[in-house]
Amino acid sequence: MKTMRIIAAVALVTLFAGCGGTTSASSTAPATKAVAAASGSGDVSAGAEVYKSTCSSCHAPDASGLEGLGKPLAGSEFISGQSNDELVTFLKVGRGPSDADNASGVQMPPRGGNPALSDDDLLDVVVYLKSLG
Ligand code: HEC
Repeated sequence: MKTMRIIAAVALVTLFAGCGGTTSASSTAPATKAVAAASGSGDVSAGAEVYKSTCSSCHAPDASGLEGLGKPLAGSEFISGQSNDELVTFLKVGRGPSDADNASGVQMPPRGGNPALSDDDLLDVVVYLKSLG
């Protein structure tokens, strides 16, 4: 009788160990998916190229802004306070001089004045700007 109980106990422990293994395996799966989603949501180095070719003429190569041309973007609260999607939407539209939010009276042109930029290019430049802090 005693032997039977021990066998049952061992079987139970094995069962729980098995469960634990399954649980941790299934909890790694969504984490892997999250990483995949993040890598599909913008490319910092591609964004740096977009920034250099389209945005740096007004916002300065180091994103510190140029007087009378474009606001500082490095460390901008406007950027850190919005989601990537919201910022892409902003970039598609820009901000005209008569926009109530416009502080400088200078236009931020739609897509930085470069209509060839795709929404993906804009997302790349958004993650690049966020990486500047
Ligand atoms: C022709 C000049 C010009 C170009 C090119 C340009 N911008 Fe701008 N941008 C501006 C100006 C001017 C403002 C500020 C408008 C204002 O006073 O509210 C601005 C504002 C912004 C803002 C909002 C900043 C804030 O704090 O309100 C972001 C973000 C931005 N630009 C990103 C970009 C990106 C990204 C590109 C390249 C794709 C780009 N800009 C290209 C002139 C430009």
